[in-house]
Order: sequence, then C-alpha cells, then structure tokens
Amino acid sequence: MSLQTRVDHSHAAEVSHRDVADGASSGRREVARPASCVVGVGSALPERVVTNHQLAEMVDTSDEWIVSRTGIRERRIAADGEFTSHLAERAARQALDHAGLVPTDIDLIVLATATPDNTFPSTAVAVQERLGIKAGAAFDIAAVCSGFVYALTTANALIAAGTAKRALVIGAETFSRILDWSDRTTCVLFGDGAGAVVLEANGAGGNGAMPRGLIASALRSDGAHRDKLFVDGGPSSTQTVGHLRMRGQEVFRFAISATVDVVEDVLAKAGITAEEIDWFVPHQANKRIIDASARKLGIDESKVVLTVERHGNTSAASIPLALAQASADGRIKAGDLVLLEAMGGGFTWGAALVRW
Ligand code: UT7
Repeated sequence: MSLQTRVDHSHAAEVSHRDVADGASSGRREVARPASCVVGVGSALPERVVTNHQLAEMVDTSDEWIVSRTGIRERRIAADGEFTSHLAERAARQALDHAGLVPTDIDLIVLATATPDNTFPSTAVAVQERLGIKAGAAFDIAAVCSGFVYALTTANALIAAGTAKRALVIGAETFSRILDWSDRTTCVLFGDGAGAVVLEANGAGGNGAMPRGLIASALRSDGAHRDKLFVDGGPSSTQTVGHLRMRGQEVFRFAISATVDVVEDVLAKAGITAEEIDWFVPHQANKRIIDASARKLGIDESKVVLTVERHGNTSAASIPLALAQASADGRIKAGDLVLLEAMGGGFTWGAALVRW
C-alpha cells in the first residue's frame, strides 16, 4: 500500500488544540491537525496462564492478598525460547493487519522494553529483520513502565519532523526473566506480553472539529528515585542480568501524585477537561493506583480500561495491550478521546491524549 498524501508540516508540528483563523471567523471550533494518528493496534500474550493460587504454592502468599492489594488474579508467562522480540513481532503483525498494511509500509520501529532479548543490538532491529523491513530506522527505548508513552511521543515527534511516515510503536516485555521468584513482594506483580500500534503521518486534508491523532503528550523523569524500583544487575556494573527490586509503598505513593500531575498538564495543553475523555487507559500496575488516580482526576470508573486482573503488570506492554483489548471488544471507537498515562522505574512518568 502506498503512503497517503503529503504531511503539512506547518500543522504537523502542533500537538495542541487551538482555534484556527478561518474556523474562528466562520464561528466553528476547529483544531490543529495532529502530526500522526493511530491506524492499527495489536497484541500478543504467551499461552501459559499462571494464577495466584499457583504462586501461593511457590511463595508465602495468597490469592486473597494479591487480589485485595493489587487487583491481579493471573498473569501470562513466556515459554522457554519465547523472547520479547517474538511477542513484539506477533503484536506488530496484528497491528499491521488491523491497519490493512504490510511490513514494507513501515519506515520506523520504536520499541519500548526493559527486558530486551540481548544487551545489544536492540530488540527493535530483531523485529525489523523478522518483518522483512529494510527502510528507515528501528531502536529501543528504556523507560520501563512509561516506555510506551515515551515511544509514542518519540515516534510522533519523528513523524512531525518528517523523518518517518509510518511507525510501529511497540511495548514488549518478558519480566518473568528478571523476577526473583523467591521474593513474594515482587514476583506476584508482573507478567509477560506485548502490544503495538501503527502510527501514520496525518494527510494534508482540511482540519475538522475532531482531527484524529496524538493531540498532546508530556514526559517526565527524576533519577533521584532510581533506587526505589530497579534491577540489581547490568552489563557495566555487575556483568549479570540481575533481578527486579522495589520499595513498593514509596512507588505506590509517588505513582498517584505524579500521574495526576502529568495528566492535568496534558489536558491543559489540549484545552480538554477530564469529563470530555471517552476512555482512560492507564498503565496497569495496581488497581488501587488506577482507581485512586481516576477518582482524583474526576474520571468515571465506567471509562477506565482495566486489564491488570488478567495480565498483571506487563510494564511497557500494559497500555498497548489494554488498547488492543478495548479496541477489539468495541469499546474504543474511531473519534473517541483516549487518555494514556504511565509511571515506572527511574522514576519516569508521562501521559498522552489521542483522538482515536
Ligand atoms: O509498574 C511500576 C509501578 N509499580 C507499582 O506501581 C507498584 C506500586 N506498589 C504497589 O502496588 C504496592 O505497594 C504493593 C502491591 C507492591 C504492596 O502493597 P502494599 O499494600 O503497599 O503492601 P506492603 O508493601 O505495605 O506490605 C504489607 C504486608 C507486609 O507484611 P507486614 O510487614 O505488614 O507483616 C508484607 O511483607 O504484606 C506483606 N506482603 C505480602 N503478603 C502476602 C508483601 N507481599 C506479599 C505477598 N503476599 N505477595
């Protein structure tokens, strides 16, 4: 399939709503066209389901504790030989099918992961090679659970700059490989999976009242918190892969205030109120964090997409997995306003507002 009409970069660089001159004079509210829009979404989960009851046979925990503290009932765990890149490739192929595109239509892959197949090269180039893509660039982003929001914002910026026309934006993880399976405070929380979207440069057609695409986003980080959620190994420090370590309560407290703050920033940039949001798709770490954030933002619980019960925390994969689910089951429809937010190791956090 050939690429659509040329991008009008004078509009493409703008990512926030505004009244354009002709719209204002005609009395209609028109908004700047975002640089890129989502045209396909896909996901992939390993086959193996591990329930809380199964974990209770391995560590001193219970289904009751895990459900009441986190909302998680089960998670998927990758099979031996099933790598982050394999899950990413499956999610990418599904997103391409959904968009009615083929791999050679893609000229950028931005893949968010904290569990790459190898230290280098990037997992993104493994996906690029398996999809048979030779054009453009492919690279990984390391922002842990905020990775998908970082990747989406980065791909959109590269499209706005004219560097790429169509991107696969992927969040893919095999956290089961970095968990300490004897540590009940962390091993019950995470799962494996991948999700992907196809992001395409918006055509040069006229503006409307509701142009599709990434309307606004914001990214944050603060390395002063990097010892609160981290992996205790790495090629340069220990020459080992290491295991995930977390000071859960401190992460929990920070997560709510940070995400509310960055979401409010994005809504203000877009000139949109929380009540106008159709779907809230937060990072799926803990149902209590999601409930508290939605309450503080004034978003009704009926608009919150929840997958944490079945997926656990899949880090960078959690938002695109949730997007794929809510798109497949008919909740998220073209034209809906979808709010994404995430927070994770670093700390990193961010939010994005997308007209689907
Ligand atoms: O994705 C990146 C962001 N990550 C997060 O957002 C995670 C944020 N943190 C959390 O979600 C929560 O802090 C946890 C779910 C990790 C923990 O919940 P909590 O309500 O903060 O529990 P806690 O750490 O205060 O622990 C309470 C008790 C402790 O026992 P004592 O000291 O009160 O006797 C823990 O040892 O629960 C115990 N505990 C467990 N008990 C049964 C900790 N883990 C478990 C477990 N099963 N798996």
